[in-house]
Amino acid sequence: MAKGKDLEGKRENFASKFGIIAAAAGSAVGLGNIWRFPYVAGENGGGAYLLVYIAFVILIGVPAMLSELIIGRRSKSNAVGSFRKLKPKTPWYLVGVMGVLTGFLIFAFYSTVAGWTLHYTYLAIINAFHGMNGAQLAETFDKFHKSALLPVFWQIIFIIMTAAIVIAGIEKGIERYTKILMPLLFLILLILVIRAITLPDAGKGLKFLFMPDFSKVTGKTILEAMGQAFFSLSLGMGVLITYGSYIQKHENLTDVAGEVAFFDTLVAILAGVAIFPAVFAFNLKPEAGPGLAFLTLPGIFEQMPGGYFFAIIFFLLLVVAALTSSISLLEVTVAFLTEEFHITRKSATIWSSLVVAILGIAATLSFGILNNFHIFHKTIFDFLDNVTANILLPIGGFFIVIFVGWVMNKSETRAELTNENKMKGRIYGIFLFLVRYVVPLAIAIVFLYSIGLIKL
Ligand code: PFF
Repeated sequence: MAKGKDLEGKRENFASKFGIIAAAAGSAVGLGNIWRFPYVAGENGGGAYLLVYIAFVILIGVPAMLSELIIGRRSKSNAVGSFRKLKPKTPWYLVGVMGVLTGFLIFAFYSTVAGWTLHYTYLAIINAFHGMNGAQLAETFDKFHKSALLPVFWQIIFIIMTAAIVIAGIEKGIERYTKILMPLLFLILLILVIRAITLPDAGKGLKFLFMPDFSKVTGKTILEAMGQAFFSLSLGMGVLITYGSYIQKHENLTDVAGEVAFFDTLVAILAGVAIFPAVFAFNLKPEAGPGLAFLTLPGIFEQMPGGYFFAIIFFLLLVVAALTSSISLLEVTVAFLTEEFHITRKSATIWSSLVVAILGIAATLSFGILNNFHIFHKTIFDFLDNVTANILLPIGGFFIVIFVGWVMNKSETRAELTNENKMKGRIYGIFLFLVRYVVPLAIAIVFLYSIGLIKL
């Protein structure tokens, strides 16, 4: 039985609002919040970046998320099929095809980092961080992620875990557990935050994160903040089209988009608050790059009572957060393959996972033996990370909002937003204005500005 279909072949729906939020927030909240956000913020000067980021979430993220949900629920179809259904015999379905490909590229490097979180769970269990100082933690991470066998081993385990859950179906497994695990992750993050802000010199880290220094804002900062907003909210590649297609008619899409965006941003900021004070307390550099979370968090655990247990639970939950996101990445491809080509769910999942694994292993090895292999002056990992978040997702988002703003019938988009006019359409005018003008223009300007074509 294909996912999204019940026994009679009817498409399945999320049972409750909480189920929708858990699934969508499960996709949004992941390594992007706890691993990627702090290190990109660190590389881009902290406070000013945070402000620009929040502006993008509100101005671009929420309307773009709403657009995907509208396309999905209206068409009741996968990322590619939805465009075919809503505008048959036009090239719009290519936006969905690009989304599916982007999903592959993201899953590849995402599984590298997810593999790291598995290894760190293992290290936490054997109490490997005990008595280590900042320099030793840095050395541990350095040695591990540049080696070949271990990171690839854990990466493959992670891909197998993702595939197993996607094959088994989402509702009865992951959806049920995310409802418990996501709040638990949040709670542990709060405890970490309290420990972090009571570290000596915590003020320095908080200042770095919250005091905007606008002299640090460049085209690159702005582009990276926009890319991070798309990445963190899982936008621009059809995850929320796919999930939106399982949302029932009476649910309020605007609420869903608002709540998911709020929660996702809160988790990112809390992760920053947990990490930056530790960066300064342990004499690390905020621009340490992709290893940042792995250098700082074990250090915080070392300095708190019960740290041994917190470390294990935290890394385990990070694995779960990564899993609920990678499932949504894989689900886009699997929904597409099963619905459009009538391949069974199982073989669609296995074949896609194999392709991802090959690309993913290359990404993992690009920290070690493939380090000198460059694409556009970047290692494979950095290339995948940058090109997906900063270029492919915003381009996907650009076409998605153009589609909703200019191509779909206004009566259809209004019907989705107001649940067939059962709710007041007060925000409809604002929404339409945003997706027609503000969002596409903002994305275009950021692109042109960041490549130096226009100057502000
Ligand atoms: N939003 C996820 C995170 O922040 O970890 C990553 C992600 C999932 C990006 C799904 C894009 C996507 F389509």
